[in-house]
Amino acid sequence: MSDGFLQLSRLTKRFGDHVAVDNLTLSVPRGAVLALLGPSGSGKTTTLRVLAGFERADAGTVTVDGRDVTRQAPAERHFGMVFQHYALFPHLTVGENVAFGLERDPAVDRTERVRDMLALVDLEGFAARSVSALSGGQQQRVAVARALAPSPRVLLLDEPLSNLDPSLRERTRRELKAALRKVGITTVFVTHEQEEAFALGDQVAVLNEGRLEQLGTAPDLYERPRTLFVATFVGRASVLPGVMTAPDRARLDAGVEWGVETPQPLERGARVSLVVRPEALVLAGEGLAATVTGCRYTGARAYFTAEAGGATVEFEAAVRATQVGDVVHLRPQRALAFAEASR
Ligand SMILES: Nc1ncnc2c1ncn2[C@@H]1O[C@H](COP(=O)(O)OP(=O)(O)OP(=O)(O)O)[C@@H](O)[C@H]1O
Ligand SMILES: [Mg+2]
Repeated sequence: MSDGFLQLSRLTKRFGDHVAVDNLTLSVPRGAVLALLGPSGSGKTTTLRVLAGFERADAGTVTVDGRDVTRQAPAERHFGMVFQHYALFPHLTVGENVAFGLERDPAVDRTERVRDMLALVDLEGFAARSVSALSGGQQQRVAVARALAPSPRVLLLDEPLSNLDPSLRERTRRELKAALRKVGITTVFVTHEQEEAFALGDQVAVLNEGRLEQLGTAPDLYERPRTLFVATFVGRASVLPGVMTAPDRARLDAGVEWGVETPQPLERGARVSLVVRPEALVLAGEGLAATVTGCRYTGARAYFTAEAGGATVEFEAAVRATQVGDVVHLRPQRALAFAEASR
C-alpha cells in the first residue's frame, strides 16, 4: 500500500467533531484508476476535496510522485477535477469551456489542444456550440475534456455520471473509460454505484463512515469481503443471524447448522451474521426451511425471495423449480460468517 504515484497516508478530515475522513491510507499506481465506492455521507467528496486542496487535512499527507503536496494550494498541485454537480460556464462555447484552464499557459496551442481534447471525448466539431445546447452526457464529457486539457498530473472525478439517465450513463461510462485509458492518467473516481466502480476502477476502495473498509478488485470484494459491510454493500446477499459452534461451523437461529468461512477469526459462541450470495444458496432435500414469497425473472433463471425464521433470504434457481407459496429447503454452497454488527 505504499509507493503509489498518488499516495494518501493516514489522511483525516474533521468537521467539528464529525470525522468525515478517518485515517485513510490509499495508494494509486501511475496511470491507474482508483474508484472510491461508498454510501452517501461516507466521505467520498471530502476525500477528493482534500486531495484537490480545497479542504485542509487535519492530519495525514498526500504525496504525488514522492513529493508531499499536503500544504500546496489547489493550483500548485496541477490536478484536474470534475465536480459532483458539474459546472460548465453556460455563457461560453464548448471550445471556450475546454480552453478555460489553458489561459495561463502560453506554450500550448489552444486551438489544437481543444480539438484534441474534444476528439478524446468523442465530441469532434463541437467547439463552436453553446454548452447549453448539449445533452447531459455531452456536457459531462465537456467537463472531462476541460479537466484534462491542462494535462493535469492526477484527475479527480466526483460522481461524474450521476446526473445522467441510466441508458446515457452506460454509454457515457464506456466513453469515459476509453478516454481515461487513452490518456493513461492517474485517476480517482468517486461513485456510490458498485457497477460503475467495477466498470471504471482498476481497484475499488470501499468507504464507510470515512474509513477504508477494503481495497480490492471487483472479484476480491465480491468473493472475499473482509467485513460485513463490504459483504452486504457489494453485491446481493442474504444475512442470517446465528452463533459459532466450531471454528468453521455456525448454528443459525432458524435451527440448521452450516459450514462457514470466517474472513476474521471468530470464537465459539460468538454471535454472527451469516452472509450468503443468492447464487450460492441452492434448493436441497433438507436444510433451512423457507417459504417462497417472491420471484424476479431474469431469463431462464430467477431470483426468489423467501422467509426463513423471520429473516428474508434470496436464492437463485431455475424459473420452474419452485413458486410463491412453496416451502423449500435451502443449503449454502458457501456462507461467510462475520461478527454480528454491534448496532
Ligand atoms: N463543509 C462541511 N461542513 C460540515 N460537514 C460536512 C461538510 N462537508 C461534508 N460534511 C459531512 O461529512 C460527511 C461526508 O460528506 P461527503 O460529502 O464527503 O460524503 P459523500 O460520500 O460524498 O456523500 P454523497 O454520496 O452524498 O455525495 C457527511 O456527514 C457530511 O455531512
Ligand atoms: Mg459526494
